[in-house]
Amino acid sequence: MTFCEYRPGLEGIPATQSSISFVDGQNGILEYRGINVEELAQHSTFLETSYLLIWGGLPTQEELDEFEHEIRFHRRLKYRIRDMMKCFPESGHPMDALQACAAALGLFYSRRALDNPAYIRAAVVRLLAKIPTMVAAFQLMRKGNDPIQPRDDLDYAGNFLYMLTEQEPDPLAARIFDICLLLHAEHTINASTFSAMVTASTLTDPYGVIASAVGTLAGPLHGGANEEVIFMLEEIGSVDNVEAYLDKCLQQKTKIMGFGHRVYKVKDPRASILQQLAEQLFEKFGRDEYYDIALAMEQSVSERLGHKGIYPNVDFYSGLVYRKLGIPTDLFTPVFAIARTAGWLAHWKEQLGENRIFRPTQIYTGPRNAPYISVEKRQSVQDQALIGFVTG
Ligand code: SDX
Repeated sequence: MTFCEYRPGLEGIPATQSSISFVDGQNGILEYRGINVEELAQHSTFLETSYLLIWGGLPTQEELDEFEHEIRFHRRLKYRIRDMMKCFPESGHPMDALQACAAALGLFYSRRALDNPAYIRAAVVRLLAKIPTMVAAFQLMRKGNDPIQPRDDLDYAGNFLYMLTEQEPDPLAARIFDICLLLHAEHTINASTFSAMVTASTLTDPYGVIASAVGTLAGPLHGGANEEVIFMLEEIGSVDNVEAYLDKCLQQKTKIMGFGHRVYKVKDPRASILQQLAEQLFEKFGRDEYYDIALAMEQSVSERLGHKGIYPNVDFYSGLVYRKLGIPTDLFTPVFAIARTAGWLAHWKEQLGENRIFRPTQIYTGPRNAPYISVEKRQSVQDQALIGFVTG
């Protein structure tokens, strides 16, 4: 079979068959294993939803209890990982710290047992359990404090907020944070999930798979947009400056952070839920100073760019929720990674089920049969590049 059409960004090209999630980008619908994400956000929890994504069905009470128990039991970090983190510069970005720590887990657990269900289960549990602890530990350590131990009496979301802030979280705040995790848990073949799948297809270890996905999520066109949105709102500073800011972006053709999506051509359903969650938090804990700017931006971008299908995506309102929960801005993307670990693991497991190594083709655009030029006869590569001779 030959497929010769080149589509930048592989737009519209199926990379796999999957039964994990479904997106209808024209109607703003997202389903996990066929269940609408809005229904899950109302009734489920992040861990129950992770179970659904990874094992393909909602767990019985007994199965859920066992899964939650295993995760509580594995939340602690090995002291060598903590010691390694002490050597990280405190000015480093927490996504880089997380990527290094996720990869380092592979040093501790044996490889190549991918046909053993117990190995798969242990990897799923360890990664879901330890990634939040890594993010919280880096936050405390870069402030010069010792990380605090997880608390077994707190649930997944509550324990993360506790490890981060050293205070027992308000129950509403913990529930809202849990829903945020659930909303970010999975989203078909996005860039980081594709990266996880490519890495998984070589049959390497799951820690390498997650580390590669974390590195991909970090970029500002993907998960990194949530922190960029806050920088943008800060820069705009007031509702009165919104129009001028958008004029500048459109003139200079720069991307407006938190808007646009390869698949959604309407408002991302997760953005609508996150906006409601932000409002619930504002009602209890006070309105965020940036919320009015965000509302004005949504209104104006929809008027100006709605014809191109550009509306708020998942990253637009999540930062306002996280700010109210007391999460530092540069931890927004690591929080996305905590949640998306569930989706990455679901795709890792699915990939192993019918694996074939990813090895696409290319359309070669360089010269053929070029002569080898001896060093004394060569022209400077830099000069040739300047006159457009050498590309790339
Ligand atoms: C996530 O894929 C997923 O599912 C990702 C995600 C997940 O859950 O995994 O949903 C999470 O990554 C959300 C996206 C976060 N990124 C941003 O908010 C950054 C800003 N957004 C864009 O850069 C952009 O919209 C992307 C990266 C999200 C999508 O890029 P595409 O599909 O390659 O679209 P494009 O850049 O080719 O744009 C198509 C057109 C262009 O106009 P024309 O040249 O055709 O006239 O839309 C315009 C673009 O200029 N456009 C924007 C815009 N996004 C698209 N114009 C201004 N601001 C924007 N944000």
